[in-house]
Amino acid sequence: MKTLITNGTIVTAADTVQADLLIDGERVALIGPDLADRVQADRTVDATGKYLLPGGIDVHTHLDLPFGGTVASDDFYTGHVGAAFGGTTSHVDFAIQGKGESLHQAIMNWHERADGKAVLDYGFHVAITDLNDQVMEEIGRLHEYGVSSIKLFLAYKGLFQVDDTTLFRAFLKASESGVITMIHAENGDVIDILVKKAIAEGHFEPVWHALTRPPQAEAEATNRAVQLAGIAGAPVYIVHLTQRDALAAVARAKAAGQMAYAETCPQYLFFTVDDLARPDFEGAKWVCSPPMRSREDNEALWGGLASGALDAVATDHCPFFFKGQKELGRERFDKIPNGLPVIEDRLPVLYQAGVQEGRFSLNRFVELTSTNPAKLFGMYPRKGTILPGSDADMVIWDPNRSHVRSAATHHMNVDYNLWEGMEIQATPVQVFSRGRLLVDGGQFLGQEGSGRFLERGTPQVG
Ligand code: URP
Ligand code: ZN
Ligand code: ZN
Repeated sequence: MKTLITNGTIVTAADTVQADLLIDGERVALIGPDLADRVQADRTVDATGKYLLPGGIDVHTHLDLPFGGTVASDDFYTGHVGAAFGGTTSHVDFAIQGKGESLHQAIMNWHERADGKAVLDYGFHVAITDLNDQVMEEIGRLHEYGVSSIKLFLAYKGLFQVDDTTLFRAFLKASESGVITMIHAENGDVIDILVKKAIAEGHFEPVWHALTRPPQAEAEATNRAVQLAGIAGAPVYIVHLTQRDALAAVARAKAAGQMAYAETCPQYLFFTVDDLARPDFEGAKWVCSPPMRSREDNEALWGGLASGALDAVATDHCPFFFKGQKELGRERFDKIPNGLPVIEDRLPVLYQAGVQEGRFSLNRFVELTSTNPAKLFGMYPRKGTILPGSDADMVIWDPNRSHVRSAATHHMNVDYNLWEGMEIQATPVQVFSRGRLLVDGGQFLGQEGSGRFLERGTPQVG
């Protein structure tokens, strides 16, 4: 099948060019002027006045994740449908190692979740919760499983949290194995004490989720992770960075030449602890870890996206219905499942406040949401750009068609939208994944089970 897209403005992290583009099968075949005069296609799409962007890549998602006595409400089908409508065409989810389990088993468990459901291409990071000698040896063989990144949690005491011995051993092994280490950086020991103290003192409302996870607990853990990675000579990627001191720790390490990288997520750019204090338990809709911070932190993160201190915007998509799931914590904030629905909103809200409101260029938007994630996680240039030979993962983005974010119209399997009522002055109108037209206007054309596992290569760092 050949698809010719005419008269679009192709935007990559490096260039903005007006050209035609031919997709042949799953890949971009040709880019150039007046291709309609020279090639035959089965389908022609007129993209006059529209942008052609590389499909979004979300490197931090939790589809179908068991958490807090329930399971994240988007699975690998519903999450992919939502993602596609928002312009995202690939993602990397976390296979989480159970205690005593091999990494191979953890990855196979996550394959089972995705098999037969996926519509988009997807990969896995593996989150290590139990580092023994066999697991150390497996880190050296992760590439055989198509995996080139591990994650360690410095929070969630008694569940996922690891100690500094584990952290440092993992850094050493990952670095010699061509694997990048991702860190959830909050001091879980301190948080555990603060949560118990708050409960004992009779504080049960959602806002206490934020008050017991102070910004210093994130700044300390981020600095510790970055410094220990520096000693080990290991590339490190801080996930969901939320606040200015943690940002400064990463920026300092970068300035010193360290392979230190960080993402933030849209929720940390728009919302604050005040959202967790909304009345009638509504604050539970914003409960995730780390928590929302302050307006000053929002601004610091926008600055980090523009300056290069931050490298990527992912989502940490981990949705739970307000009714029946978030409500598990009505009596106690520490029983509220942690996580937010974001996968479908990421590109639209970041475009609106980032590009439309003049905080950074459209090229930088592409870099943050697609190109850098592809490079850092071993997918580039197959994914993350528009070049002859790349997978034809593309979004036709109409900058003159506005829409409003809403739970009434989103496709994620969840009963609320964090950006309810926000007007976006652009719309992803058509979305291609490996040449297949997945979204055409309001219509979903993708087929359940047609997504493929992405075997990722060595991260491009340094
Ligand atoms: O609250 C969150 N972020 N839930 C998902 C697990 C994690 O920490 O990334
Ligand atoms: Zn996390
Ligand atoms: Zn996460």
